[in-house]
Amino acid sequence: MDLYLKDKIALITGSSRGLGYATALQLAKEGCKVAINGRDEARVKNAVEKANKETGTQAVGLVGDASLPDVPAKLVQQTVEAFGGLDILITNTGGPKPGSIDSLDEVAWQAGIDLCLMAHVRLIKSALPHLRKSSAPSILTVTSLSVKQPIQNLLISNSVRAATVGLTKSLALELGKEGMRVNSILPGWTETERVAELLNARATANQTSAEEEARQQAAEIPFGRMGKPEEFANAAVFLVSPAASYINGVMLQVDGGNYRGIF
Ligand SMILES: NC(=O)c1ccc[n+]([C@@H]2O[C@H](COP(=O)([O-])OP(=O)(O)OC[C@H]3O[C@@H](n4cnc5c(N)ncnc54)[C@H](OP(=O)(O)O)[C@@H]3O)[C@@H](O)[C@H]2O)c1
Repeated sequence: MDLYLKDKIALITGSSRGLGYATALQLAKEGCKVAINGRDEARVKNAVEKANKETGTQAVGLVGDASLPDVPAKLVQQTVEAFGGLDILITNTGGPKPGSIDSLDEVAWQAGIDLCLMAHVRLIKSALPHLRKSSAPSILTVTSLSVKQPIQNLLISNSVRAATVGLTKSLALELGKEGMRVNSILPGWTETERVAELLNARATANQTSAEEEARQQAAEIPFGRMGKPEEFANAAVFLVSPAASYINGVMLQVDGGNYRGIF
């Protein structure tokens, strides 16, 4: 099946590792020109080198914290300068600080709002003038299964990401009139460094081991295992591709069936 991604231009924020990197790599394999982003310069450089070596494309690396007010516009501008336009925007970042109502303070909440909501708002707002010039514009927000099924000790994610799916659905209606598609993926437990960190924190709190916490978590998933970043990426790449031309306003769980609700 042709995804019609050849020579499309994509900015994927939070993509120097994890779900974002797997998606950038897969898009590059499909012939996209990709901009890879993260806060750590060495990690971004390494990701770009790996992607270029594996795919033979010329990805660019953009260093910057997407949760800061003035960075999203710069990331968009740098992508357009490097490649001459923008067709695909994937808004992704790291996860917010874990914790409960007792442990999380005002600073953590505000940082979580900037990271999990405002980064998406600012990136989309900055990208719109360029996406509007594309023949197949597409936006994908990366949120979490937590918007449908709260996750233990992730109160900020459980709360703030609901606003981001509200944003996604609203924009699907608003921008759909212009032929622009806006969707979200709600990842379930997927093996990345973020998950390793969360499991380590749980193990410390519960006086267990990270392996034991991983085993317990996997046991709740019908497949009995966590997802691989490539499994997330395959869904993401299809959703942003012109092959998904009639899919708009979808909040897609990629969670191995972990979500317990019917709808
Ligand atoms: N993996 C899962 O099971 C899962 C499940 C549900 C939801 N999610 C959510 O999906 C997103 C991606 O998860 P992941 O597991 O791939 O995380 P990850 O392994 O921590 O990777 C996050 C990526 O984003 C970059 N990043 C972090 N904060 C950033 C910022 N403020 N601005 C720009 N780049 C930033 C990181 O590089 P630097 O650290 O160098 O900036 C890294 O490249 C997160 O929001 C996570 O909470 C993940």
